Amino acid sequence: MNNVEWTIAEMLNNPEILEKATNELDMVVGKDRLVQESDIPQLNYIKACSRESFRLHPTNAFLPPHVARKDTTLAGYFVPKGSQILVGRLGLGRNPNIWDEPNVFKPERHLAGHVGNSFDVTLMEPEMRFIIFSTGRRGCPGTKIGTSMTIMLLARLLQGFEWTLPNGASQVKLVPADSNLFMAKPLLACAKPRLAPTLYSKIQV
Ligand code: HEM
Repeated sequence: MNNVEWTIAEMLNNPEILEKATNELDMVVGKDRLVQESDIPQLNYIKACSRESFRLHPTNAFLPPHVARKDTTLAGYFVPKGSQILVGRLGLGRNPNIWDEPNVFKPERHLAGHVGNSFDVTLMEPEMRFIIFSTGRRGCPGTKIGTSMTIMLLARLLQGFEWTLPNGASQVKLVPADSNLFMAKPLLACAKPRLAPTLYSKIQV
């Protein structure tokens, strides 16, 4: 939920990205049926948007604490056995040595290097350039369901509604709260249905 809220906020500040994501849904799914989980492999731009949002706006600043089981050396630093390790998600996701223009929302960076239509962007990041589900033995066991829930929520909201900011505003303040990394103020946006009325059975009077 947090990832989707930040993604739509970033998209409202970058209308060309919102348009590209909506166009992908119209091309892959069309407007006569709702997007389904089976469409997810084809929704590479939507997944790239979600990845980019996880990079910039992780839900927690740190991974749960881990302990070094043996002496090790990492990036030139000696880490003695028994050390408590707290991996900083914000620091990784916005590391200028890894990411070009680290503070800019650029989903295209997750498509670079992929050619043709046969590739599949995922929410996995085994190289730990940033963290979504983490990796290794204690990495998240819920990667599949986590991906399906996140991408379905985002794709349904984008496919089903045209999003605008209320009262003629043109920018959302992308500021995290003081006490956590959720948006300081919950996103307020206007949603206008963009598909045939028969597809909104739950909201028909
Ligand atoms: C988008 C959704 C989700 C994200 C981004 C996410 C991310 C994470 C992360 C970063 C960790 C810590 C890994 C580490 O310490 O290295 C974790 C652990 C864990 N996650 Fe998730 N998770 C998600 C959804 C889920 C779901 C749906 C389930 C269960 C159905 C789940 C179950 C767990 C469990 C049990 C652990 C602890 C694993 C362990 O310590 O061995 N997660 N998750």
